[in-house]
Amino acid sequence: MKIALLPGDGIGPEIMAEAEKIIDFFVREGEHIETETALVGGAAVDQFDDPLPDTTLQLCLAADAVLFGSIGGPQYDTLPRPKRPERGLLRLRKAMDLFANLRPARVYEALADSSTLKKEVVAGLDIMIVRELTGDIYFGEPRGIHINDQGLRCGVNTMTYDENEIKRVAHWGFQAAQKRHGSLCSVDKMNVLETTQLWRDVVIEVSRDYPDVKLTHMLVDNAAMQLIRNPQQFDVIVTGNLFGDILSDEASMLTGSIGLLPSASLNQSGQGLFEPIHGSAPDIAGRGIANPLAQILSLAMMFRYSLKRIDLADRIESAVEKVINQGIRTQDIVRPGESAVSTSAMGDAVLSALA
Ligand code: IPM
Ligand code: MG
Repeated sequence: MKIALLPGDGIGPEIMAEAEKIIDFFVREGEHIETETALVGGAAVDQFDDPLPDTTLQLCLAADAVLFGSIGGPQYDTLPRPKRPERGLLRLRKAMDLFANLRPARVYEALADSSTLKKEVVAGLDIMIVRELTGDIYFGEPRGIHINDQGLRCGVNTMTYDENEIKRVAHWGFQAAQKRHGSLCSVDKMNVLETTQLWRDVVIEVSRDYPDVKLTHMLVDNAAMQLIRNPQQFDVIVTGNLFGDILSDEASMLTGSIGLLPSASLNQSGQGLFEPIHGSAPDIAGRGIANPLAQILSLAMMFRYSLKRIDLADRIESAVEKVINQGIRTQDIVRPGESAVSTSAMGDAVLSALA
């Protein structure tokens, strides 16, 4: 198994170090895992003036899977857009054709009262958001800021999907539902936006291949509301890139901390990039207090989805659950009166639970 490691910026390198401890542990057990680390995001801009240097891209394309940390920081926000860290990640997603982004949000029993929502609303919650990742307003042309006919600055982005882009991610949504509890909610804004009318039409067409899945549709504003009103009504949600970005951050908060949520981004051949859904958290970077669990759980998703080692994925996920049940908490999930452990102590705890 050949894995590219891209720690990135902010807390990225700190949490990646904890995932590497787990990889090293499996290597000591006799697994053949090769890793190679490369720069991406602001770290790559600092060194190569490019958020996705060609050497990094080639490494990722040649690997079986990519484990990604996080990117970005305030010092890069004023750079020209092509140089910004986020553009590096977006280019990588596009170059690897990672159109299916799986973002599970599950509430651990022992953390049900860490959520800002009432325990009875979130206890037992287990949803999966399937977000389209290589299309939509993120990539649509034309885009930019120009001066219009009246001499005014005018910003333009283009929300666009063709039917094939919708079709292939819809299949992922239905198949995820088949493996889970059999229901799929497709989220759009068809009352206003034509591109999402097409989204709904195509999802309905694809649904004919999946008579065993119960398909519903919801407008995105209602979905945002329902996610905090009654999140248990959802099993799998499938949606476009922009809506999925927003709804997945919202869903993460149901679980108590964004520091817990991993994600998988996959292409048709099963190759994938695995990353926490949280950002680089510049405010806490370098202090050794970040929660490494989203990164560690991203590694588990890598074993499950790209490397087809469900046994290793299961082991990591049970180790994380065990640590949470033991009451070991980083600062983002600590309860009042308890003391928080460091990033590396959390990684060590997962490691000993694994052993
Ligand atoms: C995410 C992030 C990215 C996105 C940013 C960093 C470009 O918010 O993965 O959700 O918007 O897709
Ligand atoms: Mg996001």
